[in-house]
Amino acid sequence: MHKLVVIPGDGIGREVVPLAVEALEKLLPDLQTVEAQAGWETFQRSGCAVPEATFQALRDCGAGIFGAVSSPSQRVPGYRSAILQLRQTLKLNTNLRPVRSWPCVSSRPGVDLIILRENSEGLYSGREHWETEDVAIAERVISRGASEALARRALEVAKARKARRITLVHKANVLPITCGLFRDTCREVLEGEGWAAELDERLVDLMALQLVEQPEAFDLIVTTNLFGDILSDLACHWSGGLGLAPSLNWGNGIALAEPVHGSAPDIAGSGRANPIAAILSIALLLRYHWQKPALAKRLEKAVENFLLDEGKADFGFDTTRIVGQGILAAL
Ligand code: NAI
Ligand code: MG
Repeated sequence: MHKLVVIPGDGIGREVVPLAVEALEKLLPDLQTVEAQAGWETFQRSGCAVPEATFQALRDCGAGIFGAVSSPSQRVPGYRSAILQLRQTLKLNTNLRPVRSWPCVSSRPGVDLIILRENSEGLYSGREHWETEDVAIAERVISRGASEALARRALEVAKARKARRITLVHKANVLPITCGLFRDTCREVLEGEGWAAELDERLVDLMALQLVEQPEAFDLIVTTNLFGDILSDLACHWSGGLGLAPSLNWGNGIALAEPVHGSAPDIAGSGRANPIAAILSIALLLRYHWQKPALAKRLEKAVENFLLDEGKADFGFDTTRIVGQGILAAL
């Protein structure tokens, strides 16, 4: 019996998630779903962005899909980003973000890489304070434990996809203590576990340039939280943009599929949201969490076949429905 917690969230999260769940129901007829709340509207209603029932449902089911939530960009007392709370509280300590070329919609062929991002600490640890009235401080937390867990996950992913190269991305020249600990710990684990193929390193600024210049040269990129957040949005340009960028929050026996995009208030309610990122996030759950690579491939193939036929079309205000139904029909 497969169980899935469904957290639509805010904005376009609510529009794309039902189609992704429908695709999964087609592939796993025994699927049982549990609806759960999180996000800005949940906070406004209840004073809490992630109710305890949502954490508990994920602990009980072990798998979920999270649409997207809105977060205000000024401080709101008592509010903290729902997805950051879920990642940190449930110790979903890695985030897997594949970027690949798709027919018709990608501006470049031959790209096939994964960014594996530390997901629980770094500059997103939530340690921000005012030192004086005019100076604000954010602390960047890097631990040996989380870096080690990430490197072990990298080995697992490298094995599953027969990776030829792992690239560690950091900024140890200006952050020698935190980035140094990250880099050295990852190296120790990878070399200690006999990673025999190519292992190299990049400073994050050069990595950004090279992801633009020659993205097809990279295979598995392993990096810290903020760097991975930024590099994954940059790299997803090659797959066709945020509407095609999936991710998986993963750790501690729990996996939470999550399209990379946010709640997209500029298009929410218009029917223009692309559901492919959410659907491809379900494929990641199938491949990595439920260990069903054949079903993951089937779902990705349905996306590919749909794009081969319809990838050039503009469905305007009916995009969500037509793309979603088209992929379901191709399954
Ligand atoms: P965004 O990802 O929501 O939107 C960026 C741009 O991409 C917009 O022009 C949007 O229309 C477009 N876009 C995004 N997803 C799309 C899709 N599936 N199909 C077609 N176009 C799509 O990022 P933005 O505007 O920076 O943030 C909006 C809100 O989302 C903020 O409140 C932010 O905090 C939140 N956010 C939440 C995330 C999450 O829940 N995981 C991640 C990123 C942002
Ligand atoms: Mg992001």
